[in-house]
Amino acid sequence: MLKIEIARNSVRFEGRHTDMRIFLFNGFLLLGYAVASLSSIYLDSSESAETMDHCHYIISNSLLEARCPNFQLSKIPLDLNPDIQVLNVTGHLLLRLTNDSLHPYKELVAISLHYLVLHKIDNAVFANQPYLEVLDLRYNIINYLPKSLFQLPYLHTLYLGHNLLYDSVFNVTSPLRLLELSKNLLTVIPNIGIQPTLFHLDVSYNKITSISTEDLAPFCSLKELDLTGNRIKFNASNCDCQAFNAWVRLRQIKMKSDLYKCTDPPAVLYKDCANVRFSDRTHKLFNECLAMKGRKMEIEKPRSFWISVVSCVSVFLFVVFVALFFVHKRYRSRYMKQEEQLTAVYDNTQLIKQQLDDDL
Ligand SMILES: *[C@@H]1O[C@H](CO)[C@@H](O)[C@H](O)[C@H]1NC(C)=O
Repeated sequence: MLKIEIARNSVRFEGRHTDMRIFLFNGFLLLGYAVASLSSIYLDSSESAETMDHCHYIISNSLLEARCPNFQLSKIPLDLNPDIQVLNVTGHLLLRLTNDSLHPYKELVAISLHYLVLHKIDNAVFANQPYLEVLDLRYNIINYLPKSLFQLPYLHTLYLGHNLLYDSVFNVTSPLRLLELSKNLLTVIPNIGIQPTLFHLDVSYNKITSISTEDLAPFCSLKELDLTGNRIKFNASNCDCQAFNAWVRLRQIKMKSDLYKCTDPPAVLYKDCANVRFSDRTHKLFNECLAMKGRKMEIEKPRSFWISVVSCVSVFLFVVFVALFFVHKRYRSRYMKQEEQLTAVYDNTQLIKQQLDDDL
């Protein structure tokens, strides 16, 4: 009788032991998960061990980036990992970008070429960069840009500040959202055609002397405009200044500097300027831009519909998977417990049997 009682206790203990094991197992899982995520965060923000003569690789925002800082390269190295998505070259004496400078790299999403004394860019340099979204060519001495650059299908962010760019007319078909041209030699707002996506335009510290609503009307999405450091003068004999301010207010464009302080118009125009009307051309350009934006959205809409369908399905599958996993785990632990109980009972029986044998 006593022996059986002890055996039963041991069953209970065994059960607790199993619980303990599951608990430990889960703890290890959690720990492993935490270590994995921590190390990925760490990897994301720190440099990997792989270094080469002039360049090294890092993972930044989960993109593979090659950085080539401050060495005396005379051209962009062609033997980097061809899968790099970001190329960051700074501080070399690189006078020219030739047609094959970027040739091995077909996955580039972003390119930064700073402080290179970069002067000449051949026409087809960016021709094989279909995925390029961000291009940063600040701090060079560029005075000419190849037209092919503005036809890249995904290019949305273009930094061209601190160069020697003059006014030029470009037919931009890239979906530009940000165009930065500070510290160049522009005398007018760049004439780049209708830009339905352009959100941010920086033309600060150029030589711009005049501006009108017609310069801004082709940018119907424009919300941020930097004109500081220019010497813009309005004709005081008409309402241009008032019209410009009114347009900026109406379109809710945020100016880096304050609105222009308009001088009082001549007495005959006082009423007109207080109740300003925009030119027909301003309305025409703006409406063309809106129409183009509408067409773009028509194309985007079905795409985003399918994207949401696919994401819903994947979330559903994930939830089902997690649920199944837990059900499975539960059954498994119950099964294991039962099995151990059975083993314990079996051991008990063996014990009693042996006892009986001994007694006999
Ligand atoms: C670069 O490629 C473009 C287009 O293929 C060609 O017109 C140009 O002559 C090339 N430039 C050089 C320097 O080879």
